Amino acid sequence: MDKIIINGGRPLYGDVRISGAKNAALPILASALLTEGTNTFHNIPDLVDIKTIKKLLTSMGAQISGTETVEINVDKITDCTASYDLVKTMRASILVLGPLVARAGMAKVSLPGGCAIGARPVNLHLKALEEMGAHVELSNGYIEAKAKRLKGAEISFDLPTVTGTENIMMAATLASGVTVLNNAAREPEIVNLADVLKGMGAKISGAGTDVITIEGVTSLTPTEAEVIPDRIEAGTFMIAAGMTGGELNITGCNPHHLEALINKLRDTGMEISSSKNRLKVSSSDKINSVDIKTTPHPGFPTDLQAQMMAYMSIASGLSVISETVFENRFMHVSELIRMGADIVIQGGNAVVRGVPKLRGAQIMATDLRASASLVLAALVAEGQTEISRVYHIDRGYETIEKKFSALGADIKRVK
Ligand code: EPZ
Repeated sequence: MDKIIINGGRPLYGDVRISGAKNAALPILASALLTEGTNTFHNIPDLVDIKTIKKLLTSMGAQISGTETVEINVDKITDCTASYDLVKTMRASILVLGPLVARAGMAKVSLPGGCAIGARPVNLHLKALEEMGAHVELSNGYIEAKAKRLKGAEISFDLPTVTGTENIMMAATLASGVTVLNNAAREPEIVNLADVLKGMGAKISGAGTDVITIEGVTSLTPTEAEVIPDRIEAGTFMIAAGMTGGELNITGCNPHHLEALINKLRDTGMEISSSKNRLKVSSSDKINSVDIKTTPHPGFPTDLQAQMMAYMSIASGLSVISETVFENRFMHVSELIRMGADIVIQGGNAVVRGVPKLRGAQIMATDLRASASLVLAALVAEGQTEISRVYHIDRGYETIEKKFSALGADIKRVK
């Protein structure tokens, strides 16, 4: 298993180009199940999770070529099953459920288990499909959904679920009649997916707001589209600049997708200037402690909570970090404490008292975004840090050690 070795204490300077968004590329690739013919998608990141969904789609009859620009043809769906072996490695495989039922009238998808950050149920996905007329059964750990043709329905999500909104939006494009999604998620990745579906001929309005309306059509046609930049990768590098005392030009990003983070980082004392697709960020001598509360978009993103906690670990005061989206997203706390951080968990909050210095240690990654926070902590810690189980990082960050090394970090991957 790969390890990442970091010798901390070096400020980061230079330009870093942000890759395409993992959480936009995954539903967009799954949407190719909705059309015959060849879809072309640009700015696809080269990540383990992308390889996984390509494998899953190929097993269903897709012909796929390319890495950054992907051509995907699903003239015929030959298998409607997403097996446990594949789904257990990537929960986002659930994103084939809606398109399969819409295009093929059936789907057999392994229930995605929980993961390090929580139980991650999919009950809202299934309830919505049933409201659209699908017959949904759970047997031997699989979701079995069938519908001759889905019917448009008025759906209200108990929670603004991101992949739930994406799944049902895709399913509704081929339903008969109109579907209204109330309490829909508003993430930029949903807007990106809606634009791709509209390019295929879908009739969708309201994406990016909490009410999305989809008027079903009888068929869709292939399209060519671009995946948006990864706002979580961009945010991770912004926080890295604040922590290490350097200055970064972050290119190929979309500052509008990061307003909540930009406001918080300015409160910590960072200098941030933005233009259309670039951000210039630099740290300040004194890091102010700020409180963080994660909420659905456009609030502070839960996927940047762990990275922000690493930053607040070396700030000058007390920071209360409240995680409201997932029930167990503090797995990074114990590893940060092993590096000398002063953090106490009280219920859904982590109380972080800044310390002057973190110390290098042998630590272990537990989930994707926790791993990123440990890399950030190691970049500023005194001495050497060895991070094991880095396969978590590879799921969501394209060649992270190469990007940080190019900015001056002493970081390398060892087999
Ligand atoms: C998406 O996960 C992202 N993954 C996550 O990113 C992200 O953290 C999350 O949205 C929140 O922004 C992808 O887009 C592939 P949710 P998703 O459904 O859709 C509860 C990363 O690091 N819920 O919005 O699975 C759920 O338990 C990953 O890239 C139900 O109760 O998240 C959670 O508490 C991690 N029932 C809340 O809603 C359901 O049917 C939000 O979950 C669905 C969700």
